[in-house]
Amino acid sequence: MPLHKSYTIAPNTKLLVWKITESLEELSNGTELKDVCQSRIDSMKSEQHRKGFLSVRKLLNEAGYTDFDLFYTEDGKPHLKDGKNISITHSFSFSAIIISDKSIGIDMEIRREKAIKIADKFIDKEFDFLNTEDVPDYVRRLIVIWGVKETLYKMFSRKGLSFKQNIDVAPFEMHDAKGTATVSYMEIEGNYSFYFEEIEDFTLVYSIDNN
Ligand SMILES: CC(C)(COP(=O)(O)OP(=O)(O)OC[C@H]1O[C@@H](n2cnc3c(N)ncnc32)[C@H](O)[C@@H]1OP(=O)(O)O)[C@@H](O)C(=O)NCCC(=O)NCCS
Repeated sequence: MPLHKSYTIAPNTKLLVWKITESLEELSNGTELKDVCQSRIDSMKSEQHRKGFLSVRKLLNEAGYTDFDLFYTEDGKPHLKDGKNISITHSFSFSAIIISDKSIGIDMEIRREKAIKIADKFIDKEFDFLNTEDVPDYVRRLIVIWGVKETLYKMFSRKGLSFKQNIDVAPFEMHDAKGTATVSYMEIEGNYSFYFEEIEDFTLVYSIDNN
């Protein structure tokens, strides 16, 4: 199944999600790549990674762009030539992009208990409101927090921005599907709203900079 979702989440801000069920050949058909992207894909060892990369090009097409409208800066951050902002994520069988006039970030993570093992690498103050006893709920919240931190990292793309020390996620309710986080790093100082959604075994998180 190709396009899973496409919707306008705010003025001039579009979110698109792809569910990857196609073969590599199907995804390659009709997808022209710049030389630099062809080299990247040729060097990818995992078929899953190649599919994720190609499915993002399908999402670009859905949004009216091609690979030729996209470029990357040295930090790995993607940009659109028309000046709009773009953020990209791919995780196993899903990929998603968000395109906006505003600064944005997106992340998709699979919900796995493995997150518990690495929680102390990205969680600090949030331990105050997390209930580690209720494992299923704990994992769901951990994945949201991880996604929020990846999302905000992608929004700013600043070397040295630490998930633990510079991004604090405020207590949130799963049923609200949104929350706020504070980023404090060098001249960056602010509160950022985030939104999330569980799609099958994955959690999609995004943030739009309204500051
Ligand atoms: C770069 C990073 C944000 C990618 O996130 P990820 O969850 O591993 O992977 P995703 O599939 O969600 O995102 C990958 C996409 O992010 C984008 N990206 C890569 N570097 C980026 C950057 N510096 N800024 C914004 N976007 C970036 C790219 O579009 C990439 O996909 P593409 O190259 O195929 O187009 C992440 O690996 C990273 O470096 N995080 C910060 C480091 C850190 O503190 N980690 C602590 C973990 S406990």
